[in-house]
Amino acid sequence: MTTLPADLPVVVDRAGGTPLAVQISAQLQAAVTGGVLRAGDRLPSSRDLAATLSVSRTVVTNAYARLFAEGWLEGRHGSGTYVADVTPPAAPGQGLGGERGSGSVGSDVQIDPERNRVARHRPAPRPGSQALSPPTGTFEGAGQQENRSLAASPGGYGGSSPREVTEVSVPGGGPDRMAVFAIGPAGRDSGGYGGSPPREITDLQPGIPWAEGIEPAAWRRAWRQAGTHLPSRWPDPSGLPELRAEIAAYLRRSRGLAVTPAHVLVTQGVASGLALLAGALLTPGDKAGVEEPGYPTGRAVLRRAGARVVPCRVDAHGILPEELPGDLKLLYTTPAHQYPLGGRLPVSRRQALVAWARATGALVVEDDYDSEFRYDVGQLPALHSMDPDVIVYLGTASKVLAAAFGAGWLIAPPELVDQLAALRPRLGVRIPEPVQHAVLALLRSGDLERHVRKMRLEYARRRAALVDGLTHGGRGAAGAGEPLAPVPFRLLGDTAGMHVVLELPDDYPAARLVDAAAARGVAIYSLDRYFAGKPTISGLILGYGTATLPQVRRAAAVLAQLLTASPD
Ligand SMILES: Cc1ncc(COP(=O)(O)O)c(C=O)c1O
Repeated sequence: MTTLPADLPVVVDRAGGTPLAVQISAQLQAAVTGGVLRAGDRLPSSRDLAATLSVSRTVVTNAYARLFAEGWLEGRHGSGTYVADVTPPAAPGQGLGGERGSGSVGSDVQIDPERNRVARHRPAPRPGSQALSPPTGTFEGAGQQENRSLAASPGGYGGSSPREVTEVSVPGGGPDRMAVFAIGPAGRDSGGYGGSPPREITDLQPGIPWAEGIEPAAWRRAWRQAGTHLPSRWPDPSGLPELRAEIAAYLRRSRGLAVTPAHVLVTQGVASGLALLAGALLTPGDKAGVEEPGYPTGRAVLRRAGARVVPCRVDAHGILPEELPGDLKLLYTTPAHQYPLGGRLPVSRRQALVAWARATGALVVEDDYDSEFRYDVGQLPALHSMDPDVIVYLGTASKVLAAAFGAGWLIAPPELVDQLAALRPRLGVRIPEPVQHAVLALLRSGDLERHVRKMRLEYARRRAALVDGLTHGGRGAAGAGEPLAPVPFRLLGDTAGMHVVLELPDDYPAARLVDAAAARGVAIYSLDRYFAGKPTISGLILGYGTATLPQVRRAAAVLAQLLTASPD
């Protein structure tokens, strides 16, 4: 029996006409029929789910009541709400395909009883069809919502299309809200760009989680547990079978992925999974697309594999599928939280991306590096759910725990998982078993998910302090209510992860701001390094993973003050 966290892949669309309780019950029902929720899974309490979705508890109670009445859920007195066993009796000769919980993941996917693997009988692409739809019933509603905000933001960043820096989308307005704020006059301390060296450095380096947040007792428990296992005679190149099963269950709970252990390859993280894929599937000279701006390590890994890296433009919402070339062999993308700009790929683009991959034969590699940390907005299911045949999913413990842990997972069709695993011994790649046992223990005990919940709250507090300090700090520092010479800035991608991007006007000297902040004890980073080509957006990336709340507050005040000073 598994207790599901409150952040099930359920979204609500307030703009649509469908009652919220109906939306929630329809999505939960779809998750049961789609194999995402299984018999015996324990649902979150109505209070927890209501808090996560920002709806009233009555809405969730009504949704649950509806599912009870229809037999999808069952209650055990005093111990919660569970998914009922709604397995239809197996038809003669149906074999394991009829056994819920053993991997029946959809109408076109069946278990191969001999190998306990998923065998695909997937026909040609069917854009817009059920198979390409995400598993939740009213997902479309979320897409419509995003498309509305998208219409206001036509620009892209990786190329030369015009872009509206001054466009206004006020906080709270849409899923990927952008805070536009005006920077006021020089503050009292407008000497700003200099001063005596600071004693304490606050480092806003992005991408590094708060390892100090790991509960020492949980950490020790995991390693004690790992220490009870002697190394096996020869490591399984796919990873420990128990861990593969546990990862599949984790992804089912947290990301709505309908996968079996056979789909899981244990890795050392995203870069390790990408390098393996590139080594197996690319030949030197093949073209591989990477978002522009994008993750420099992803780009470097593909280059090292001999690929010709093609920058693929993104805008504030993520990649632009209609601009993708037809001759890519592979596309590396970050749809849940575009790195670094923070876009959350709208449903219409997700569908277009899948259709593009089907049409061109390219493999899409989805890097889902920090989807655990999402604030204010509902989670969208992973892109992988839309077409597991053309999308390989990469996940990592580098954000939820620490990069130094060196653990991750790759989700692909079982045949590809086997192919990649077979390649490993030839490359001398081994995934340390003690680490795998420790991950297993953290997953099995629930400690990992507890840690994620705790850190989500902590990061949300830091994010709020950063956004608030940047938005209001400048005026406060200036001691004046009204800015004299408002300069439009905007924050991008502040609904997820551990960083935000501060977009500056094109002619703003970001490098000088970096130097000035350093002189005041705040290390910030320019966006330039995320571009393969000439940067087309001027800005800063501000990480809050490793800075404490007081440090974040101070850093935000320093930055706001600097931004109010004239750069000249
Ligand atoms: C976009 C992105 N993906 C993945 C990772 C983590 O990669 P790995 O799992 O290789 O540590 C990072 C870390 O900064 C990242 O920024």
